[in-house]
This record gives sequence, structure tokens and C-alpha cells, in this order.
Amino acid sequence: MTTTTTGTTKAVGTAHTRVEGRDKVTGAARYAGEIPFAELAHGWLVLSTVTRGRVRSVGAAAVLEMPGVLAVLHHGNAPRVDLDYVGVLGMRPDPTVAVFQHDRVPHAGWPVALVVAETSEQAREAAEALVVRYEEEPHDVTFSGEHPEAYTLPGPAGPAVTGKGDLEAELAASAVVLDAEYSTPEEHHNSMEPHAATALWDGGRLEVVDSNQGTGWIAGELANLFSLDPASVRVRSEHVGGGFGSKGVRAHQVAAVMAATVLSRPVRVVMTRRQLFSLAGHRSPTTQRVRLGADAEGRLRALEHTCLSRTSTVHEFIESGAGVARVLYDAPAHHTSNRVVRLDVPSPTFMRAPGEAPGSFALESALDELAEKCGIDPIELRARNEPEVGPVSGLPFSTRSLPACFREGARRFGWADRDPRPGLRRDGRWLLGTGTAAASFGAGAMASTAAATAEADGTFTVRINAADIGTGARTALTLVAADALGVPTDRVRVRIGDSDFGPAMIAGGSMGTRSWAWAVTTAAEELRERLALSDGIPPEGVTVRSDTTAAVEALAQTERHSYGAQFAEVAVDVTTGEVRVRRMLGIFAAGRIVNPLTARGQFTGGMIWGISMALHEEAVRDRNTGALYGADLAGYHVATNADVPLVEADWVDDPDPGDPVGIKGIGEIGIVGAAAAIANAVWHATGVRHRSLPIRPDRVLAAGAHA
Ligand code: MOS
Repeated sequence: MTTTTTGTTKAVGTAHTRVEGRDKVTGAARYAGEIPFAELAHGWLVLSTVTRGRVRSVGAAAVLEMPGVLAVLHHGNAPRVDLDYVGVLGMRPDPTVAVFQHDRVPHAGWPVALVVAETSEQAREAAEALVVRYEEEPHDVTFSGEHPEAYTLPGPAGPAVTGKGDLEAELAASAVVLDAEYSTPEEHHNSMEPHAATALWDGGRLEVVDSNQGTGWIAGELANLFSLDPASVRVRSEHVGGGFGSKGVRAHQVAAVMAATVLSRPVRVVMTRRQLFSLAGHRSPTTQRVRLGADAEGRLRALEHTCLSRTSTVHEFIESGAGVARVLYDAPAHHTSNRVVRLDVPSPTFMRAPGEAPGSFALESALDELAEKCGIDPIELRARNEPEVGPVSGLPFSTRSLPACFREGARRFGWADRDPRPGLRRDGRWLLGTGTAAASFGAGAMASTAAATAEADGTFTVRINAADIGTGARTALTLVAADALGVPTDRVRVRIGDSDFGPAMIAGGSMGTRSWAWAVTTAAEELRERLALSDGIPPEGVTVRSDTTAAVEALAQTERHSYGAQFAEVAVDVTTGEVRVRRMLGIFAAGRIVNPLTARGQFTGGMIWGISMALHEEAVRDRNTGALYGADLAGYHVATNADVPLVEADWVDDPDPGDPVGIKGIGEIGIVGAAAAIANAVWHATGVRHRSLPIRPDRVLAAGAHA
């Protein structure tokens, strides 16, 4: 669909199919692993088969005799990298990606070598033939809430610990107290398109064609790691088949650059589906404790949320599950803390709604339990605990539309007729129940640059180093640019995914589209003004560049978040343990919605992941081998078509104030609270609280039903 009005156009807010949709479905769109290069060599990663120890020897000589084999890189011969720097967004480098730098094996599936050959088949065959000998050491992969080596540290989502008020005194004075422990398992993003990179040196410049969430991010990390002038590194990433937090700098890009450097020819490294399970990062399991104290009317006097997650011995990454309590509810005594324990496992990383996804399962289950104890409707309980200002920050909210989400959601879901008593409704062998939960996710903007060009043929080209990881960002920016230029969308071409376009926010933290749209709007509006004053466009076009650094810094300091109200109806067969989600509804307040078509896909995609998280997903680590059982998409269960019923998502009007675009970002909010809504519905169906995810048939069977 394109807008064809003359004069002012209004593309933003109108459903628009993906501008690259035809290219994708016809195969014309090329992904990083399939772009042709002359003289291309192929690298195949060899991963450790032991969980902890040292590499004693790498049998490279035998493998170098095999057909087509060009090189075997390992800790004894690979180029060195530098890890002493501060990267994008102030992030310290993740030593997980510093492959082949030492003989230590910190987890099962650690890269110990890269075999490079003329063809990918030759590389694979040689990689599988490579004999690596290890000195094995005892490992510990067992995560539990009582691990003696758990500790607290500052995490990526802010301080690890917040606290005000006397928790024990408020709990003692509360009419109703809830104290419960919740757990979530190790989960994997495992994008449809596996990680893939091709690296080559071209006239003293390092070129990397990759699949990632921000080419400037990857270029900056590679420049730092290999001590290169940032201007001499170019990374491109045109189409990305999913990222979900996993597509930052990872072993494949680093290994490809090493091999291209050693061999002086283009080298491609593609991860296999199984390799993703140890190299792409994952979501840590969590053990969480929530203590709530309320007066007889359900007003919170005490809130404590602690979250323990797990990281590797290589990198400190916190799954900050306790963060969501800092936004949703206040109490005179309010304490949150995130702790972590280092085990012999792969490094976890950002995974869609890092922190909020597991954190909201615990907190929003606990709120439901408190509502039950207080005899108050769970939506009413939340309404009574709406904070005036940020519970921890004390800052005002830019908007706070959570009650509006619940009002609209309750109306459309039919909540008013709900009998709160559990275990009463039957449909044949099924027990039926409904549940709800709140969602929030941070919103904000980061500095970005963009360029808008008026071409001599009357079209416009916008260049911004955005990343479209499947979200529809390229299309959203086309709509935003068209409106800012005052032209139909079919006259606008948006080019993204090239670090040479200049600095821009990554696709992360649900802040990509707002940050990019702000820069695009600024450049496009100025171009429009410039054109109004000029007569004619020269052959080379007219280009205006924007940089939102100062404008973003001037954005008022407030609590900026998206919100949502999640609703689910489930059917539970307690004799087989089967749980089916029958319908879901999510109503969101997530800023200005740019493209309703792709926005709906983002919301429902998150909600479906919530079904998956509630009922299916669980990576199981064998404590003897330290590796995963079933590290593939047969062994690791995700919700598929038959698991997904009618899932509806809609939104309330909620433009965020303070910038010209009013966007909040929608990439992560859809999963937040979704698993809790389902777990709360399972309680309503059966009368049993399931505090450990996933709610597997054996757990349902063991717990039975209590009407
Ligand atoms: Mo996201 S987990 O910030 O890609």
C-alpha cells in the first residue's frame, strides 16, 4: 500500500507491507552466508568436546593433507586480539569472542580451532577429522538457588541492588504476605538464519559482510579487537533473519577476520544450527524470590524481588530479572537485587526482553497470588498499586498507560464476567481458566546520524546505519521519511546496514526505530525546507545530514516505558498433563505505532514466544558431560503452529513526549508478562500454582488439580 494523496501525505500509522518483502519471498534478497565472492574460502569451527580443561594438542598436520584444506587456526598460531577497551554503549568487550587466544576450555562447545578449505564441504570434513586432545578438569554446571559462589555485581540494566524502607518491619505489619520462589530454565534464541560472516581485506581495508544487529557496533568491536583504525573497517548487513539479542560480535566474525588476515583471501564462517546452542549466547536460567506484603485493601507495604542468574567463567552477564519491579509497583519498603553465579557454561547474552521476560514471570505470578490471598481482582489490585513516580528513581513517568491497557484489554477479553474461583470450569476433559499480567519495557532514544538525498529524478534516498533484523525497521523508516519529506512512500528508498553510513543506534533495547526515526525525520525535514527554497535539483542531488546527539541529550529525564496488559485463556487436561492456550489478547501502550502491520507482528511474535516460554522452552544441561541434551530444534521445543491459537494484539494511543517521532519501540514488550498470564490462567483452571517454567505435562500431572 502506498499513500497517493497530493499535498500532505500520512504514511505513518498506515499498514504497509515490507518494502523488501518481494525480494525476500522470491529469494532475490541475499543473506550473509550466500553472497558470492571471488576466491572465497570457507572456515568451519571446531568446538571442544570437553567442558573444562586445557587443549593439549591440535592435530593440524594430518588435516592439512586433506583435499582443499588451506589452514587450521588454533590457540598456537592464531592472530592475537586486544580485550582492553570500552566498546559501544559503554560495554566492556565480551572475552567469549576472543577465540584461539589461550589453551583454556571454559565450557562444552568452546571454539578450539577453525579449519579453512576451498569448499565448505571440505572444511567440514576436515573439521570433523581434526583430532584435538585435552587435559580434562572437573566442571560444575549445576545451577541452583543455593549455590555458595553466587555474588552481586552491577549489571547491564543498572545497579544490581536497589532498596528503600524497612522490609521486615513492613512485612510484619502487613495484613497479607506472600513469599514465593519461581524459576525459569536456560532458553535459546536460535534465529532462523544462523550467524554468518565473510571477511576480506580490500586495499588495506577490512570488509565484513555479516548478519548482525548493528554494523557500526561490529565494526567498532573488530577495530578494537584487531587494533585497527575504525575508518579502515567496513561492515555490511543488509538482510538479517532474526537476532533477538544474539547477533552482536560473536566468534564467527572474529574467526573469519583472523583467517582472512592469515590467508589474504575472503573467508566465510557460518555457524551450524547446533553450534548456535553454544556460540550464539542464550538466556540464563533464573531462580527468583518475591516477597510481597499488603494491607487489607491490597496496597503494597513491602516488595522484595531477588533474581539469581548464571554466567560463564569467561564473561559477567546478568539476567536482571529484578529490574521490572523497579518500574511496575511501589511500596514503602522496596528492595530488588540481581545476583549471579559463574559456572562452566557458555556465556549468556541479551535475549528478547533480557531481565523483563523471566522477571515478569515471577513478579506477575506473585501479584496474581497476592490478589488471590487478598480476595481482590488481579486487575483491581494492580490499579490500587499504580505508582505516582518511578518507585526507585522518583522521576515522573513520560506516560503511564498501564491502567488504560488493562481497561481496554478487560473489555475486549470479557474479564468482567470472570468468576475468580479456581478449578470450576470444565469443557469435557479440559479444565478452563483465564489469567492476566502486566508488562513494561524501557523506552528511550540513542544518538544517530542519517543522510537524506533528493535525487535528480524526483526520488529520495535515505541512508542510515539501521538494522532490520526482521522487525520491519526498513519499512517503518520508509514511512517516517515519506511523511517528513511530504511525498508518497514509493518515492523514498531507505538504505541501511552499512557502517560507512555513519554512527547510529543498534537494533537493541527496543530503541532502534525511535532513534533512527528521529535522525531520519531531522534530515528529511531539513531537506524539504532546503528544496522549498531552491529551484531544481543538480545531477548529483541535494543531501542533508543529521546528527541527533545534542537533541537526544536534551531529552527530559523521565521514566520512559512501554506497557501492556496480557490476557490468556487455557485448557488443562490434568490426566495427561497437557496445557493448551486457547486464546491470547495483548493490549499495549508503546508509543506512536509507525506501521500497524509489522507492529502487530512484533507484538504477537513476542506473545507467541511467551506461550513457548510458559509451556515448551527448556534447554537441559547434562551435569555429567556439561553439554546440552538435544541441542537442535527437535530437542529444544518451541511453540509451533498447532500450539498457537488466536493471538490478538492491539494498542492504545500513547505517543511518547519530547521528540518529533513519539515512538517507544515494540520489539520486546510483547513477551513481557505473557508467560505469567498463561501460568495465572493455569492456576485459575486447576487451582495449582506452577512456579517453575516450563509448565510441562509431567509437572502438571504431578501437581494435579485442587478445586
Ligand atoms: Mo535485544 S535482546 O536488545 O536484541
